Amino acid sequence: MSPTPKPRIAVVFGGRSSEHAVSCATAASVLSVIDRDRYDVVPIGISHEGKWVLESGEPERLALTAGHVPEVDAGAAAVVVSQDPSRREIVVAEPGQTPHQLGEVDVVFPLLHGPWGEDGTIQGLFEMAGIKYVGSGVLASAVGMDKHYMKIVLSAAGLPVTAHAVIKGHEWESDPAAVRETVASLGYPVFVKPARAGSSLGITKVQDAEGLDAAVEHAREFDPKVLVEPSAEGAREVECGVLQALDGTAEASKVAEITGYGAHEFYDFAAKYLGEEGVTLEVPADLPDEVVKDIQQLSVAAFEALGCEGLARVDFFVFGGGQVVINEINTMPGFTPASMYPRMWAESGVSYPELVDRLITLAAERPAGLR
Ligand SMILES: Nc1ncnc2c1ncn2[C@@H]1O[C@H](COP(=O)(O)OP(=O)(O)O)[C@@H](O)[C@H]1O
Ligand SMILES: [Mg+2]
Repeated sequence: MSPTPKPRIAVVFGGRSSEHAVSCATAASVLSVIDRDRYDVVPIGISHEGKWVLESGEPERLALTAGHVPEVDAGAAAVVVSQDPSRREIVVAEPGQTPHQLGEVDVVFPLLHGPWGEDGTIQGLFEMAGIKYVGSGVLASAVGMDKHYMKIVLSAAGLPVTAHAVIKGHEWESDPAAVRETVASLGYPVFVKPARAGSSLGITKVQDAEGLDAAVEHAREFDPKVLVEPSAEGAREVECGVLQALDGTAEASKVAEITGYGAHEFYDFAAKYLGEEGVTLEVPADLPDEVVKDIQQLSVAAFEALGCEGLARVDFFVFGGGQVVINEINTMPGFTPASMYPRMWAESGVSYPELVDRLITLAAERPAGLR
């Protein structure tokens, strides 16, 4: 009797968004811990231009450091996802040759951040192809990615979000004076951010009206839709992980706090990823029990409000009196062992390899299609 074939897991990383390098770093970590005795692992890269390739997936080459910005090897053999839901296939097309089948894929682990990866678009592709995948589906991914709609859905569920103004492309282009007035009514200092980005890319803290235009233009380099919020001055910044149990219930991790930004004004890209001095994280956060409980309940409620699946990280501001406000939800949070999400779960008793395993099992067990 031949042995049962191992489930085939396609780890997809890179992608067209500005978070390409962060995605490679996440993939480097997942590829180095994923249990190859249990799974047949296929690393698939998506280049900056959107070309899918069969990647070698060497963790050293994909790591992100201050001196090395990793990227997908766009020269590797091209890959095609079959759109026939009865086949669940990924096909490799060697240059100049007839495509041959890589075969059925049991689960795709889309380790992608930002648009065309974390925003429901690739999830839609997998749904069309009948392929199972880790994490949230189309709607939750799309809502979680778009800070404008995220706030609409969270506030409709009665959850606290920061005040904000949305600047649509045509509004800024046709009547910037009206936009400046709306922003002034929020009260400076403000944070200006692209509606659909991540890793703090395109975000500026603006002290007064003078700095607004440049900040809006900078955010618009990432997204024509821009969000402005009053700065949560003096608030503490904390995060909480949500992970589904195998029975489908959502559980909250211990809470973590970003206790220092080093030389940075806020938790910007360099503070997040470049291992800079003075950037300090504390897991668990030193907070009163009732505030922790509040954060954990709000995290699960936010997860449920969007209809998330698998995993999410919910980020908060905590004000002096213990008042808690949701800043954002991430449906595919940073996922290296040094990232907050895995660290919070490690502290809560779920190790990094266990986390990877749980997410794959959840995806494999859930039905494809409407759920
Ligand atoms: N309203 C705000 N008040 C204070 N700090 C903020 C505010 N919005 C964003 N920040 C700072 O900017 C960082 C990135 O903003 P965030 O909205 O989380 O975007 P991203 O999706 O890029 O992580 C936050 O972690 C925080 O340090
Ligand atoms: Mg954030």
